[in-house]
Amino acid sequence: MTCTHSYWVVPLPALQRSSAMSDFVQTRRVGNVLVITIQNPPVNALSHAVRLGLTTAVAAAREDTLVQAVVLASSGTLFIGGADIREFGQPRQPPLLSQVCDEIEALNKPVVAAVHGPALGGGMEVALAAHFRVGGPQAQFALPEVLLGLMPGAGGTQRTPRLIGAKAALDLMLTGRRIEAARARELGLVDRLADDPLETAIIWAQALADQGAAPRRTCDGHGLDDIQASAAAIQAARIEVQRKHSQLFSPARIVDAVAAALEQPFEACIRLESELFLQCLDSPQRLGLVHAFFAEREALKVPEAAADAPRRLERIGVIGGGTMGAGIAVSLLDAGLQVILVERDEASLARGRATVEKVYEGLVAKHRLSPEACAGRLAQLEGAVGYGALADADLVIEAVFEDMAVKKAVFTELATICKPGAVLATNTSYLDVDVIAASSGRASDVIGLHFFSPANVMKLLEVVVPRQAAADAVATGFALAKRLRKVAVRAGVCDGFIGNRILACYRRAAEYMVEDGASPYEVDAALRGFGFPMGLFQVMDLAGGDIAWAARKRRAATRPADERYVHISDRLCERGWFGQKTQRGWYRYADGDRHGQPDPEVLAIIAQERRRAGVTPRVFSAQEIVQRYLGAMINEGANVVLEGIALRPLDVDVVLVNGYGFPRYRGGPLLYADQVGLPVLLERMQAWAVEDAQFWRPSELLLDLAHRGESFASLNRRGDKR
Ligand code: NAI
Repeated sequence: MTCTHSYWVVPLPALQRSSAMSDFVQTRRVGNVLVITIQNPPVNALSHAVRLGLTTAVAAAREDTLVQAVVLASSGTLFIGGADIREFGQPRQPPLLSQVCDEIEALNKPVVAAVHGPALGGGMEVALAAHFRVGGPQAQFALPEVLLGLMPGAGGTQRTPRLIGAKAALDLMLTGRRIEAARARELGLVDRLADDPLETAIIWAQALADQGAAPRRTCDGHGLDDIQASAAAIQAARIEVQRKHSQLFSPARIVDAVAAALEQPFEACIRLESELFLQCLDSPQRLGLVHAFFAEREALKVPEAAADAPRRLERIGVIGGGTMGAGIAVSLLDAGLQVILVERDEASLARGRATVEKVYEGLVAKHRLSPEACAGRLAQLEGAVGYGALADADLVIEAVFEDMAVKKAVFTELATICKPGAVLATNTSYLDVDVIAASSGRASDVIGLHFFSPANVMKLLEVVVPRQAAADAVATGFALAKRLRKVAVRAGVCDGFIGNRILACYRRAAEYMVEDGASPYEVDAALRGFGFPMGLFQVMDLAGGDIAWAARKRRAATRPADERYVHISDRLCERGWFGQKTQRGWYRYADGDRHGQPDPEVLAIIAQERRRAGVTPRVFSAQEIVQRYLGAMINEGANVVLEGIALRPLDVDVVLVNGYGFPRYRGGPLLYADQVGLPVLLERMQAWAVEDAQFWRPSELLLDLAHRGESFASLNRRGDKR
């Protein structure tokens, strides 16, 4: 084909008047084909200017008799990254995306979308509004609105099932997952795959024009023709949503919208979608989920990352192949890194390697990983006894016993063996990273990398920054997190950093309530009711009571004399009841049972401890349990910000959401605190302080903010703590 590429801007008065607007959507004619190109770096978000440019360009295509077909394309890496999230919460400015999509679909000339990169959210909805789709090797499709508490609102809930059927459409919309070009082709989401989708789309559009082909509109698609199969898929999705996301608002609305497609005409369904979309937009869950989304990105803005480029990351040493070391090794291997696992003797090394292999065998058995990929990952794993093998490692992560003497010995030796510039990291949960760093004699290379268990699953990574750490060592910690697809948060040095320090505090609040009259089962039920996936006592049984018991014994000597101490956990541990691994803890676990049953013997021990402490038990409502638990969490969160252990309130939110089960749809404890109102929280704390003034001493930061009528959000915005 000979192409005459004539570039021109949409010749409509509005666009001619504003050259800035024409920067976002350009058009050129190639033969009889109008190529509309979106150009809104960095991700081609569907901002108001882009929407306006698109409707203008579509109108031009409609009017121009020389144009007989249209290609919809974009420049940059992404096809279209989705809606412009900055416009959320602002008044909606027409044309809305749904209108733009309707206009594209209604065009009386064939429209071919050339999808060269990811088409996400609204971007996929634009592609669906086209009549035909060509996908390039980098094309991806996703409707991730559900992850932000939303649903597709520009026809996505209607066009997707009509194109690919209810089952596949619901799967995309309820998980938000991305699919690659080949899978999209299998599903019928794209018609053709091509190395150069733009060129193929232009040639195809020209051919359609030459044939005088009619548009093939997605709204007329046959994906729902098998009514029985569609109804079954919708029913299955309802059950799944109820089982997994009963507390979430938008998933059920998505299912409702698809169900309507079986009963009502397209236009009525689009109106319903629009109503449901607005309900989602107004829901507090959207606020929480969008906060969590932005907070995770903001948390990456740390002074060290801006100051310096990270060091090299290819060969990574892991010392200790226990629970954490093995999980960390899997996480590194999954990211394509080379791993040298070092243990203290051959038997421990074999155990560590076996743990890693077991994780991969499980994945292969569940068809989540191919045997070839599994073999490829294990080939990157070396094992060694003795630290000599770490001489050329770029980064070493220590995960040996939680014992200062052992850690110091490891770091002293590492400092002499590891090459200059290697970053030396500790996975300690509570120990003083400044002391560990000093013991190495090369403190500028030392940071903390606090993974969470299971390390290959949990998203959170606290990057702990001791006083003398070099900026590029810290930046390397953040670079590693990115490579591992983990959510990184900068934490200062203190007992427990951000997360475990706050946990220690709300755990005390929970134990006080148990000694004062609530059963651990009531506490757990109340927390699940709030949205935590598990109650605190269930979590403790899962983690193993022995670890926390050892920490309590270590701290016994330094515990303030006026601090209230509840002995119930110790009584359970003394009996060897450490939780799931011993089949008894706060709950009783029958063989293979992971949920546990309430244990009357535990209740008897609690009753005995209450008598010993002279407590007359009283009743706690679920509401009071949640209020006290979160009150303790928020107050210590404020202290952590006040002391600069967390850079901003949002860092606390990211830690609690990603490492401690705080319901993501509530954004995090400090966003929640703002919603409750800081004066209300302070009033509650003052009332509780009558029983225990030492524990319920309000954070200076909380007092200060409340006094000035400010919120945690105001600190997030200012990026400082006062
Ligand atoms: P673990 O007891 O399961 O594993 C420790 C491993 O280190 C053992 O396999 C042991 O043989 C090995 N080891 C001990 N001394 C060594 C030495 N000198 N050289 C080489 N290997 C040595 O302990 P776990 O649970 O994996 O904890 C490791 C570290 O991670 C601790 O500092 C712990 O506080 C921290 N951590 C633990 C979490 C958890 O949930 N278990 C969560 C986050 C951090």
